[in-house]
Amino acid sequence: MTIKEFQTNSLVETRELGKKIGTSLTAGTILALTGDLGSGKTSFVQGLARGLGVPDEYYITSPTYTLINEYPGRCPLFHVDLYRLEGPDDAEEIGLSEILCSDGVVAIEWAERLSGETLGEHIAIDFEILDDESRKICVSVHE
Ligand SMILES: Nc1ncnc2c1ncn2[C@@H]1O[C@H](COP(=O)(O)OP(=O)(O)O)[C@@H](O)[C@H]1O
Ligand SMILES: [Mg+2]
Repeated sequence: MTIKEFQTNSLVETRELGKKIGTSLTAGTILALTGDLGSGKTSFVQGLARGLGVPDEYYITSPTYTLINEYPGRCPLFHVDLYRLEGPDDAEEIGLSEILCSDGVVAIEWAERLSGETLGEHIAIDFEILDDESRKICVSVHE
């Protein structure tokens, strides 16, 4: 397992990190995003989308009520937020398993609500609030 740590000191820097990672991602990659409310997961996905070539007219917001949003890019981007997930049956209902084996990039907020088994091979990105403007972002690869 490879681990890389980043520190960002603004919302813009977190978006830039997301964009950089998005630029080099290949189709079929699953990103498991974890960390408290307000730690920067959605901001990161906003940058990720730009890196994946999602046009600027798509404004990326957390899909809190729909649970899954799909955006067109170099490959489809599925943005999932499991904050309101009731249980594993719910995950089934929203069609998560189909998405997880699709050839899109899947970015899942509150991925701690899923088992490692459900996720399969993935990149984990953990967000930690250091202070008002700073975040520690820890990237690890799980094969
Ligand atoms: N370094 C930073 N990275 C990301 N967001 C930051 C940072 N510093 C402050 N913020 C603020 O923290 C909040 C992050 O919100 P959001 O990305 O929606 O988090 P989450 O999806 O994890 O709940 C935003 O209000 C943003 O302006
Ligand atoms: Mg969010």
